[in-house]
Formats: sequence, structure tokens, C-alpha cells
Amino acid sequence: MSILSLSGISLILNGQQILQSVSFDVAEGEVVGLIGPNGSGKTTLFNVLSGFLKPTGGSITLRGKDITGLSPARRARLGIGRVFQNFGIFRDMTLEENVLVALEALPKEQRRSLGNLCAVVASTLAMVGLSDSAKKKAGSLSGGQMRLLEIARTLKSGKELFLLDEPTAGVSPKLTQQVADLIVELKREGKTILIIEHDLPFISRICDRVIVLDIGEVVLEGKPGEVKKQKKLQEIYFGADPTS
Ligand SMILES: Nc1ncnc2c1ncn2[C@@H]1O[C@H](COP(=O)(O)OP(=O)(O)OP(=O)(O)O)[C@@H](O)[C@H]1O
Ligand SMILES: [Mg+2]
Repeated sequence: MSILSLSGISLILNGQQILQSVSFDVAEGEVVGLIGPNGSGKTTLFNVLSGFLKPTGGSITLRGKDITGLSPARRARLGIGRVFQNFGIFRDMTLEENVLVALEALPKEQRRSLGNLCAVVASTLAMVGLSDSAKKKAGSLSGGQMRLLEIARTLKSGKELFLLDEPTAGVSPKLTQQVADLIVELKREGKTILIIEHDLPFISRICDRVIVLDIGEVVLEGKPGEVKKQKKLQEIYFGADPTS
């Protein structure tokens, strides 16, 4: 059964067509990669999915419920989690405290099921290689480290569907692998993940399916191996081959 369904999503901003009749379904437990050139509308589509932008046309359903008109807060309560770049991090709190606040915001049942919260905080920081900085203020982290902290926190937030916008941007190869491991672990737990990335090998490794946007439109869709072979991807993503 599909957890998320987009039907004919269009968006016009300042007279410019940013999204054009975007339709696709995401199955429960699926990891879907959203790729496409800069400015193709990927982040804008996430803004529409999380409720920060109202589509000009079309509808979105979550587990069969129409959520097109709902606020971002309502959608978050229904289980949509989004990772923003360095947003939601409390810079004056330590890393431990930052993770703890996220855990304490969970519904009581879920919090109880986690057991010892201090142990969960420690394992969350370990997952993204930040154990040594547990007692440091979050504001002292580098941009890439802050990004990892934000990812770890969101992924532990008890959500069902995650929207990750370039989670490995500015993150070193070793930690990129840890982000990949984290996503695989979530998939094993049955979570659904929609992920925007420019790193195609990363996408191929972790995604069940890839959707390609170009100028606000879905132009390709399929298994990573199949999509990679398409000439169209070469054209829109890497530029036309001048020798052909
Ligand atoms: N609030 C806005 N008002 C007007 N135009 C906007 C707004 N937000 C985004 N756009 C335009 O929408 C288009 C898509 O932008 P978007 O940020 O979604 O691209 P993207 O695919 O995420 O690109 P990147 O890979 O560079 O992050 C761009 O042309 C951008 O200028
Ligand atoms: Mg973007």
C-alpha cells in the first residue's frame, strides 16, 4: 500500500511554473531518490509535501488521507519528518541536550519504548560519529557536523516518512557512509524515506527507486540501475555529450 501519493502537483510562483503535474506514489518502507539538475524543483516539491507551500493544483494523500490543505505542524504530527539544513539545532545547548530534547518531545508511549534515554542519546551521537563532542555546544560544530546532528535527531524523532534534502552535502566520505547506514537501518525498521541527492553512487546504493525531475516535471522513474542507463539522464544531468 502506498503511504504517500502525489497527484498532478503543480506550482506557479510569481508567474513562473515551478512544478508541472508531478504525480507518483511511494510505498510504505520504500527508499526513493529524487534527483535532477539544480533548480529543477526538488526542494520546492519538499516544501509542498511538508506544507510550507500550497500547490496551485493537484493533491497529496498520506495513507489515503488528503493532506493538501494541512499546515506543516499537522503534517508533522501525522508522521512526516523533514531534515532542514542546520535548522532546529539549539546552538547554545550541548549535543547531548539537543538529542535529548528531540526524544523528550516524543509521545509518551514511544518514549517509554526506547528505554534508557541517556543510552539512546549516546547511541544516536555514535551513529553519526559525534560521541567525542557530546558535551560541546552545538554552535561550535562545523557546518557538516551540525548537519549530521540534525539528521540523527530527525531520524530518531519517531516519524514514519522522512524527507531528506541533500543529507550528505558537505559531509566527508566516511560520515556519508554512516548516513547511508542510518538510512538502511531505518528502512529495516519499516520507515519510508524520500531523499534528494546529487551524489548518484550514494543514491544507487541505498534507493529502491529513483525519480528524476527536470524543469519541475517527472521525466524518468525506475530502479537506480535502469535510470542510470537512460540517455535522457545523461542529457539533463551531465549535459549533452559533444562527441555524439
Ligand atoms: N519562493 C520562491 N519564489 C520564487 N521562485 C522560487 C521560490 N522557491 C524556489 N523558486 C524557484 O524554483 C525553482 C526550483 O528551485 P528548487 O530550490 O526547488 O530547486 P532544486 O531542484 O532543489 O535545486 P538544487 O539542486 O540547486 O537544490 C528555481 O528556479 C527557483 O528559483
Ligand atoms: Mg534543493
